[in-house]
Amino acid sequence: MKHLIDPTDLTVAETEQIIALAEDIIAHRARYSEACKGKKLATLFYEPSTRTRLSFTSAMLELGGTVIGFSDAASSSVSKGESVADTVRVIRCFADIIAMRHFKEGAPLVASQYAGIPVINAGDGSHSHPTQTLTDLLTIKREKGRFDHLTIGFCGDLKFGRTVHSLIKALSRYEGVRVVLISPEELRLPDYMLQEMSANSAIEFREVRTIEEVMPELDILYMTRVQKERFLDEEEFNRVKDSFVLDPEKMKTAKPDMIVLHPLPRVNEITREVDNDPRAAYFRQVENGKFVRMALIYTLLKWADENRPFEHTPVFAEPYSVNEMECPNRRCISATEDVDQLFRQSADGWRCAYCESRPK
Ligand code: CP
Repeated sequence: MKHLIDPTDLTVAETEQIIALAEDIIAHRARYSEACKGKKLATLFYEPSTRTRLSFTSAMLELGGTVIGFSDAASSSVSKGESVADTVRVIRCFADIIAMRHFKEGAPLVASQYAGIPVINAGDGSHSHPTQTLTDLLTIKREKGRFDHLTIGFCGDLKFGRTVHSLIKALSRYEGVRVVLISPEELRLPDYMLQEMSANSAIEFREVRTIEEVMPELDILYMTRVQKERFLDEEEFNRVKDSFVLDPEKMKTAKPDMIVLHPLPRVNEITREVDNDPRAAYFRQVENGKFVRMALIYTLLKWADENRPFEHTPVFAEPYSVNEMECPNRRCISATEDVDQLFRQSADGWRCAYCESRPK
């Protein structure tokens, strides 16, 4: 049983297989119109979404399957206090595959331990967003033709920006990738990500404070929104919310074939005038999201066990340290639900398996 919780759950070869399949779907859409006939996708969205939920829905419908689910946790039994583990044990009776978005970091990992059907992380808190990463990779492939030897600037909220965390992880598996981190001090990439990048000799990175100083060297500029909903302190949000605004003046020094990506939604970090620049690829990126999710759903269902035996739960996919330490992150699923405290050995010591924080 294969799930997609973190971008590195897929090997480089598996990731490229899904990207290639998405390209084939784009070229031959009619061939896939019944590829998932009789299958059901459950979209369990505990947090707002436009692109991710609707592209999953559209993807499954275009594969000939059907979709059930909720887009507001308040309308499900979650509002009565049902746990993630129990919710997915119920959903497995109704669906063949789950896409889950949750405000708690690690919730989709918990779901994967209990569901008995493939679980896709559609975004967990500030942690990870692997299907946005597949969307970004397909866009990079179609726009730039390669994943290696690229200089990519990540700009804005790198602290809470789960799409940034996931894309850096995926790109760090390719040769010659240079990452430039453009953020205010308050929104720097989390320590665990900086340490992981420092430990990985294949990736070169540096931190800067302005777009202007790096624009001419970038192949890709990845803009992000400062996410008001992630701040506990409104004053801090107000201090940093307008840190970076991409406008036509700044685009003047960019390479003619540089592309601008953004996971969207945007607020004011890219002015409307930039939309008409052919280098603005963010709406093309949205459409790629549907095709890559078609490829992912199709592939995970193909890889899933046809007969689902009852499994003793929770199912842990790899060796962990269980219940010997505690995760200090209040945004982690382990802070609010009755789950095993799980820790994974990483290059720089133990990390919470759900949210990657260091244990207490
Ligand atoms: N990119 C993205 O995750 O958008 P939504 O929040 O609208 O799903």
